[in-house]
Amino acid sequence: MKQILVTGSNGQLGNEIKHLAGSFANMEFIFTDLNELDISNADDLKDFFKNKHIDFLINCAAYTAVDKAESEPEKAFLINAFAPALLAECAVEYGYTLVHISTDYVFDGKSYKPYVDSDPANATSVYGKSKFEGEQAILKSKANALIIRTSWMYSIYGHNFVKTILRLAEEKQELKVVSDQAGSPTYATDLAKTILQIIESDSVTGTKIYHYSNEGICSWYDFANAIVKIAGLNCKVFPVKTSDFPTAAARPHYSVMDKSAIKRDYNLEIPWWYDSLKVCIELLKQVKD
Ligand SMILES: NC(=O)c1ccc[n+]([C@@H]2O[C@H](COP(=O)([O-])OP(=O)(O)OC[C@H]3O[C@@H](n4cnc5c(N)ncnc54)[C@H](OP(=O)(O)O)[C@@H]3O)[C@@H](O)[C@H]2O)c1
Repeated sequence: MKQILVTGSNGQLGNEIKHLAGSFANMEFIFTDLNELDISNADDLKDFFKNKHIDFLINCAAYTAVDKAESEPEKAFLINAFAPALLAECAVEYGYTLVHISTDYVFDGKSYKPYVDSDPANATSVYGKSKFEGEQAILKSKANALIIRTSWMYSIYGHNFVKTILRLAEEKQELKVVSDQAGSPTYATDLAKTILQIIESDSVTGTKIYHYSNEGICSWYDFANAIVKIAGLNCKVFPVKTSDFPTAAARPHYSVMDKSAIKRDYNLEIPWWYDSLKVCIELLKQVKD
């Protein structure tokens, strides 16, 4: 039996892993969130690991409020950079493999072709910088670790773009959504499944960065249109420019990531973003009915 600890398990990705846990018979899970285990508290971590054997730690905990991070940089760096460094130190000391989640926001979005894992990072927001520092700390630690950068994540759990657009499209006749930022949505169920399959495969060695999102590319405008269309809502979506919607944190204009490495190394077939979106909206409908 593999012993798996999931931190930050009340968030989108953590909840998806909880949901899938029962399908992985050779794994035993411990789920914690801030109340049970604060990943930025070194003493708490040491107390926790002292008497437990953990094979894999999946770190779903993060400071994810991208705009708020601009005015709370200390908190963002504490959770996104300092805490992953602690988790990596503990990985070396207590012998587990760390699976850590990072973001497309480590890139500046000035590329014109999908970012590969080795492309230089150049984050333009506090959130992106803090996540990049977390990655660097893990890489330096020499822990056995997998860092998976993902983008535009949504799920039936928590707050996300899909749920926001569904709510707004039910309330309004018209919506304006930016069309000059391109990326790839990620259905958190698909990512959670991939993480558990990778752990099951017993082939994680060394420290590596991978990119994972659903297949395909769209703008937030395309994404919003697809959400409205799949849900059968009667709301017109209009394209607008990023400059029409100023936000505290700068967003990358192009944050598409190349997934060849993770697909090759783990023999993965990744669903097209539109197909996964349909699955999520169907589930949200069932939850609502
Ligand atoms: N969401 C996206 O679009 C997206 C895109 C790219 C990458 N990512 C990355 O994917 C990962 C998972 O994201 P998500 O959307 O599932 O995040 P989320 O829904 O915001 O969940 C994060 C969880 O971590 C908890 N947490 C915060 N500080 C903690 C601490 N010090 N110790 C323990 N738990 C703590 C949060 O609790 P509270 O709610 O009480 O703070 C929350 O339950 C993150 O690393 C994120 O950076 C997300």
